[in-house]
Amino acid sequence: GGGVLLDRLGRPLRDLRISVTDRCNLRCTYCMPASVFGPDYAFLPRAELLTFEEIERLSLAFVDLGVRKLRLTGGEPLLRRDLPDLIARLSRIEGVDDIALTTNGLLLPRLAADLKAAGLKRVTVSLDSLDPEVFGQMNGLNVHPQRVLDGIEAALKAGLGVKVNTVVQRGVNDAGLRELWLALREQAVVRFIEFMDVGNHNGWNLDSVVPSREVLTRLSADGTGAEFQPVNPHYRGEVAARHQDGAGHELGLISSVTAPFCGDCSRARLSAVGVLYTCLFADQGTDLRAPLRAGADDAALRELISGVWQGRRDRYSEERGEVTRERKVEMSHIGG
Ligand code: GTP
Ligand code: 5AD
Ligand code: SF4
Ligand code: SF4
Repeated sequence: GGGVLLDRLGRPLRDLRISVTDRCNLRCTYCMPASVFGPDYAFLPRAELLTFEEIERLSLAFVDLGVRKLRLTGGEPLLRRDLPDLIARLSRIEGVDDIALTTNGLLLPRLAADLKAAGLKRVTVSLDSLDPEVFGQMNGLNVHPQRVLDGIEAALKAGLGVKVNTVVQRGVNDAGLRELWLALREQAVVRFIEFMDVGNHNGWNLDSVVPSREVLTRLSADGTGAEFQPVNPHYRGEVAARHQDGAGHELGLISSVTAPFCGDCSRARLSAVGVLYTCLFADQGTDLRAPLRAGADDAALRELISGVWQGRRDRYSEERGEVTRERKVEMSHIGG
């Protein structure tokens, strides 16, 4: 019973992002740079990962507490064996309005049809540039952008909705934004993300951020950005500010540096080993796996989670500049 679960800043819990692996088949410089995540890097052993049964159990508890949207992330979630089986389990949970998946797209040609059959409706594919040189550099392994485009095509063919996430870094991929937008706007909603200081290894500084305002000018034919109009959000707390061009193609601007959206943040994050984080920039979380494996019942799990949420006062993006955090959780543990 009871009312809506709110945190200390009055924000409800609506959205759960579930990381299913810390591994990835790319080495994006801003996320898992090859210099740190090299051949000897110790990724999590399989026994440490939550099983699908455990993820389902925890998801049920979160849904009981108000979560309506699930997103699977990684690392690269499609590297988790039998992922469609997890989707099938999660899509049977009553009360879940939306299940999505954030992926680099490389395995979509192999998996898109199975994901769709398991009940997935849409994917968000990360793609930072169509320039082979630039993208090859950014993904750390010289993987060609065509491989991601093939993944997007496979997803569309399978009947999945597609959004594209492009992280913008000044002097790295900002010259190719219009090319990418023109190539993808017919097929996908493209979202441009301001480069953020996530994790501990990505060499972030404010100079490398291209403000969303400037992204619009770079996308437009006349360099003014005037053809883009804001469109109303789909729901309260939507991360991307929706816009459309004169022809009605939709794009999103994710401005967590220049226009932080902590005030509406209703997202919890579950790492692959079952640690609950209440912020993308958290330095610590709450272990849910230990109580789960020790036999906690549903009521106990709900109580643990609601206690964490009720104590939450994270607003890192709004505080950026005032606080600097020494060690933050790695992006590869909570999937962005
Ligand atoms: P939709 O469900 O399609 O609206 O997507 P979404 O925006 O909820 O999820 P997605 O994973 O595509 O988010 C896009 C990017 O926005 C993430 O990869 C992050 O880079 C950034 N982002 C998402 N949530 C947060 C957040 O809570 N805080 C901050 N600072 N950035 C976030
Ligand atoms: N800043 C902004 N976005 C990032 N992502 C990963 N690292 C960063 C960062 N430092 C994005 C990826 C992917 C999503 C999971 O998060 O591009 O789309
Ligand atoms: Fe892998 Fe995505 Fe991180 Fe790139 S951003 S290294 S594709 S998890
Ligand atoms: Fe939410 Fe933390 Fe991101 Fe703010 S910085 S929107 S509190 S995840």
